[in-house]
This record gives sequence, structure tokens and C-alpha cells, in this order.
Amino acid sequence: MGLIKMQKLMSNELAKRTFLSRPPEPPPEFLLNDPTDSIFVGITKRFGVPFTWTFNNLTNPHISVVGITGSGKSFFVKTFLTRASYVWGTNAIIIDWAGEYRGWVKQSGGTIISLAKGDYINLMDLAGMKPIDRSKQIMNSLDILTDITGFPEQRRLTAEAVEQAYLNAGFILSSLPTGNRPAPTLKDVAKLLEEKLQEGTYEYPAELENAIYRLRQFSREGEDYFARKSTIDLDKLISSGLVDLDLSGLPDERFRALAALFMLQTLKEKMRSEGWSAVKGLKAIIVLDEAWKVASDDRSDAITIVREGRKYQFGLIVASQNPTDINEAIFSNVGTNIILRIKFQKFMDYIQGSLNFSPFIRSEISKLGVGEAAIDMSFQTSAQFPSTFILNRVVGEVPLDVYTITLADLLSESENRDQTLQKEYSFEKLLLTSKFIESSINNDIIDAVFKQLDARTRLVDLKEFVKILISERMTKEAIVSLLRAIGISDNIISRAFVYSE
Ligand SMILES: Nc1ncnc2c1ncn2[C@@H]1O[C@H](COP(=O)(O)OP(=O)(O)O)[C@@H](O)[C@H]1O
Ligand SMILES: [Mg+2]
Repeated sequence: MGLIKMQKLMSNELAKRTFLSRPPEPPPEFLLNDPTDSIFVGITKRFGVPFTWTFNNLTNPHISVVGITGSGKSFFVKTFLTRASYVWGTNAIIIDWAGEYRGWVKQSGGTIISLAKGDYINLMDLAGMKPIDRSKQIMNSLDILTDITGFPEQRRLTAEAVEQAYLNAGFILSSLPTGNRPAPTLKDVAKLLEEKLQEGTYEYPAELENAIYRLRQFSREGEDYFARKSTIDLDKLISSGLVDLDLSGLPDERFRALAALFMLQTLKEKMRSEGWSAVKGLKAIIVLDEAWKVASDDRSDAITIVREGRKYQFGLIVASQNPTDINEAIFSNVGTNIILRIKFQKFMDYIQGSLNFSPFIRSEISKLGVGEAAIDMSFQTSAQFPSTFILNRVVGEVPLDVYTITLADLLSESENRDQTLQKEYSFEKLLLTSKFIESSINNDIIDAVFKQLDARTRLVDLKEFVKILISERMTKEAIVSLLRAIGISDNIISRAFVYSE
């Protein structure tokens, strides 16, 4: 008998023995909690116990969700946020790398912030922080995302210019901002460095040039997503119900990571300044989905939030298809691990090594279907039972099919600010279908269009929508007729055609 085969046999033996000598699920009193103070997730596989989640008896409220694409990570997150909002009134901010939550957030009546598509954040906005602290955070983000750490003199020049920009704008570095004086932007910082270069008195002009070049990457015209006046009120983010920070419109991973890091810093500060209060459950949940760069870096505030979140009733949910992308400090410290279907052995090894579950559970995980999960929790009391168990399936909320077409990125900045202008059109499936029928569009085309809309989580901007209609061979006349039936003005319709060419 080969060695591998023998090992396999032994681990099966071992699995059977653990299985027989110890119950394979935590006792019901650990799974079934007060329904007014916990979140129903699903039914356990072995004993059919309804599992309701609370962090009262866990080491902390944070959750990791891992599993291959299509295994049900986002579905779990949506279900969890919906119920947390019902039960505790929990606010949620989703840092949405790929824009995959937009449709659902829209449908749930939440707020969507689409960066680079009508929404902007100024990285230097204080959101109630002292300029000195924000300056440090900006430098920390540059450390994570650029090579600046390796160039101490450039780093010093940049940090100095950031602080100078606040001073020039009338702020006091170590005081909380008062009134509503506008914050400076990275453009002001780059300008200060340029002026210094032009003065010609500084000894190492090449250092200055490189520092300017680095900053320009984030502040030059057309790429100044973080160097314009903010269009959103950062102060209200954690008390606005459900918020989707859609990063999919940003041009690349670095821009997305910069936005995510900034948001985590801001949320961490808000968390600290709000302090603890006597409310049940969680005040806010921050979701990081597929944000690997932000979830993996040691210097990211995701880690600070994991360390301090419990006492402030702030929870972090990190979802990823690759568990090794989640920083060890996060992965091994979350109170709850949700493991959906895993394919790669090396990921399985990593998780098993970290959570220490039995070979029996390992084999169960490899057989999980969509939405089925293994759940591992760290209880505060040292548990005398296996802490990993299998759930039949995450029982979800089934929402209505609502389709939304947004205009934001066809509008100018001032049009976007105009409160009287309709910027999106939402229809239930039946109603939208009737608009197609009004325009004499045949059923095959209608079905094909809905299929494409579903693939985009039922939320598209008008340019995309027109592209879809064209790709399904609708004539220009039919498209115009449909868009008019939807209620879109001719002026906007013609812009959509220009941009979708
Ligand atoms: N527990 C579940 N019950 C019913 N459908 C589910 C469940 N989990 C996932 N699905 C469906 O499976 C598909 C993939 O799920 P999704 O959450 O997007 O996967 P992931 O985020 O892991 O890539 C979606 O259509 C989703 O609605
Ligand atoms: Mg997903």
C-alpha cells in the first residue's frame, strides 16, 4: 500500500473516531439565540438546529467569508446585512471592488456612491479629523500604494507639503476643524512642490521632481478622482443605512485601493469618536469584498478595525475567493469564519491549518454546493466541542426584480448636482417589459436583454443599456422609442448614442 493511500485511510479512521466520540456540532444553546438579538443564517446539517448568529458569546463580531466564485459569498453578505438592519438597525458600508452590490443596494433603498461616475472624494477632506492625523493617513496610504517608503527625502518633502497645504487653507494642524472651511486637495500639494522647485534654491531638484511626479498620478486632470471637492458627506457615512461605495468606475487597482484605504481610515476615526453606547447588536458593518490589497496589507486600517471593533460595536466582514489574500491578523482573529465551497488544496490547507478542523469537516467542505457552508466560531468560553459545523444552506431573502438605469456619467458635474434632475429610472420587471412591448420589440430580444441586465446585477448606466440594446440587434429607431417610453429626454438619448458608439 502506498504511503498516500495509507495516510488517507488513517485520516478517514480518525475522522470516524472524532465523529463518534464527540458531537459534530456545537450544542444547540450555542447556536440558537434570542431572535430579537440575533441573525438567522440557516439550518445545521447534522441536527437540523436553526443557527442564529450573535457575537455576545464570541471573541469578536468580525466575519470572514471564503469560497470560490459563485459559491455564495455575496449572497451571504446581502442576507446578513438585510437581517442585521431589521434586527438591530445596523448601518452598513460596502467597499465594493467590482460594483457587484449596486443592483441589490439600489433595490434595498440604499445609497450608491459611484466613484469616478459622478461622485468624488477629496483625499484631504477632514471629516471631523485633525489635519495632522489626516496628513499621517495620507502618507500611510502612499506608503502602501506607491514606492515612496523607499525614498525618505521625497517622503519628507511630500509630508511637509501636505501639512503646508492645510496651513495655507487656514487650518491649525493639531486642532479639530471648525466652521466649514474647504479642505485643500492634492493639486494644492503638488503645486506647493512645484513652486519650491521653481524657486530653485532646494539642493536636490531631482527628489522634488520625483515627488511631484508621484503626486501627479493622483491629481492630474482626468485622473483627479481624489483631488476634487468631495461630493459626499463623509461625516454621515456610518449613519446612512446601507451604503455601497462602488469602486468599479476607477481606472485601476491602485485607485480602487486608495479609495478603500481612505474609507477605512475615515470609518476607523468615526468608530473611535462615536465611542460605545448601550445599543443592542452592531451599530455598523463594514464589508470588504475582493479587496485583496486592502485586506492583506499589515498597515491597512482593516486590521485596526478588527482589533478595536468589538468595543465600539463595529463589525468587519471580509469576503474573498482566496483566503491567503486575507491578512493573517484578520483571518485568525475573526470571531466567525464562513467557509463556502473551496476548490484548491492549498487554500484548504491554509484554512485547515488556521482553524484546525477535522478531516471529516475537510471532506464535507470539498463537497459543498452553492450556498452551503462550514461555519467556525471562536467562543469566549473555551469550548468542549468542535467549533466547526456544516450548514445546509444560507437561507436568503428573495428580493423583487427591480431594474435600474442611471444617467450619472452622461451628465455634467453641474447637472449631477442639480437636485431637480432625474438621474435614474427604476422599474419592476413587468413594467419594464411593458415598455419594450409598447415599442413593438419582440419577445426573444426582450428575454436576451433581461439576461444581460441580470448579469449586471440589474443596474446599468444608460450608455451600457444602449450598448446592450444594440448588441441584441435593436434598430436605432426602436431604441429611441423605448428610451422615450421609459421617460428619458431626447437630449440625454442623443448623448447616450454618442458615448456608446
Ligand atoms: N444560499 C443561497 N441560496 C440561494 N441562492 C444562492 C445562495 N448562495 C448563492 N446563491 C446564488 O448563487 C449565485 C452566486 O452567488 P454569489 O453570492 O454571487 O457568489 P460569490 O459572491 O461567491 O461569487 C447567485 O446567483 C446567488 O443568488
Ligand atoms: Mg461575490
